[in-house]
Amino acid sequence: MSDTNLIKTQLEYNLLPIEYCSVSFHKSGIRLIDRVSFKLISKGITVILGPNGAGKSILLRLMHGLDIPNEGKVLFEGVVADEKIRRKQAMVFQNAILLRRSVIENLSFVANLHQPKKSSNLIELLAEVGLADKQHMPARRLSGGEKQRLSLARALVCQPELLLLDEPTASLDPYSVQMIETLLSKFRHRNTKIIFITHDLNQARRLAEDIIFIHKGKLEAFQPADAFFEKPDSDFAQAFISGRLIF
Ligand SMILES: Nc1ncnc2c1ncn2[C@@H]1O[C@H](COP(=O)(O)OP(=O)(O)OP(=O)(O)O)[C@@H](O)[C@H]1O
Ligand SMILES: [Mg+2]
Repeated sequence: MSDTNLIKTQLEYNLLPIEYCSVSFHKSGIRLIDRVSFKLISKGITVILGPNGAGKSILLRLMHGLDIPNEGKVLFEGVVADEKIRRKQAMVFQNAILLRRSVIENLSFVANLHQPKKSSNLIELLAEVGLADKQHMPARRLSGGEKQRLSLARALVCQPELLLLDEPTASLDPYSVQMIETLLSKFRHRNTKIIFITHDLNQARRLAEDIIFIHKGKLEAFQPADAFFEKPDSDFAQAFISGRLIF
């Protein structure tokens, strides 16, 4: 694979292209992300795949500025992110951290931090994640899956231009998974670029326009989803989708 990979679609979205330029990230002398380069210009949904410990969460954290590369750069429209660019992004983590407030207050708190007029209708958003009837409940009393749905709603409050999700449906029942997938598809058509990590290959097939596959901190494949599932550019990726890759 060449160092920089391109997938061609329209350049309509703000924050695009997102470009990793030979990005490395180390901790305690270990290279956890190893000279990763790619250029994302597709406005659709990008899915990050890879085995446990491959570096997927770190890759996303680097995009959101929570970790800083030791080498290389992450660029948005050709520049390193500043505060203004960060404010156009939202990220949902593997483990939801909610405020000790009611469900609706978790949303209104975030809405008030941003420009209120840009915020979505909060009740409508709660209904979209199936939590309208729980709006006055303390958020911390929600079940694990409900907390995950609330975190997604909270991330969507200010209609981010870039939405980063770390296994957003990992602990959800099939009905809730469908609900979230519908919501993601809706936001994808509302000008939000979505990048998410999943271990659910069927979900990746359903939603992804392109796939980033990483293994041991290295970019092994970056392809349109159809091509990836047909014939991935990497033997590791082939082993992974056939259920044969052991980390
Ligand atoms: N602060 C750190 N110090 C040392 N090692 C770390 C640190 N953070 C992450 N790692 C290691 O980096 C590797 C990649 O971690 P990461 O969380 O990105 O994996 P992942 O691909 O998201 O895996 P999973 O599918 O299990 O969530 C792991 O082996 C992890 O132990
Ligand atoms: Mg992870």
